[in-house]
Amino acid sequence: MYVCICKAVTDKQIQEYRQQGVNTFQQLRECTGIATQCGKCSVDARSFMQQSTSLSNSALYVT
Ligand code: FES
Repeated sequence: MYVCICKAVTDKQIQEYRQQGVNTFQQLRECTGIATQCGKCSVDARSFMQQSTSLSNSALYVT
């Protein structure tokens, strides 16, 4: 699913960046250019980033 239409950034790409150590929205923005044009994706991108962080944190406790 596209999170940012202007820069063609998908949720899968965001997850991959998270796995590579991108931890903040600012870092994601610098890597992908997300939310740098119309900005309509900013809220959703931040939310997705937080969800992704929560999922990866909860995965630490599942063994
Ligand atoms: S949809 Fe992301 S900057 Fe426009």
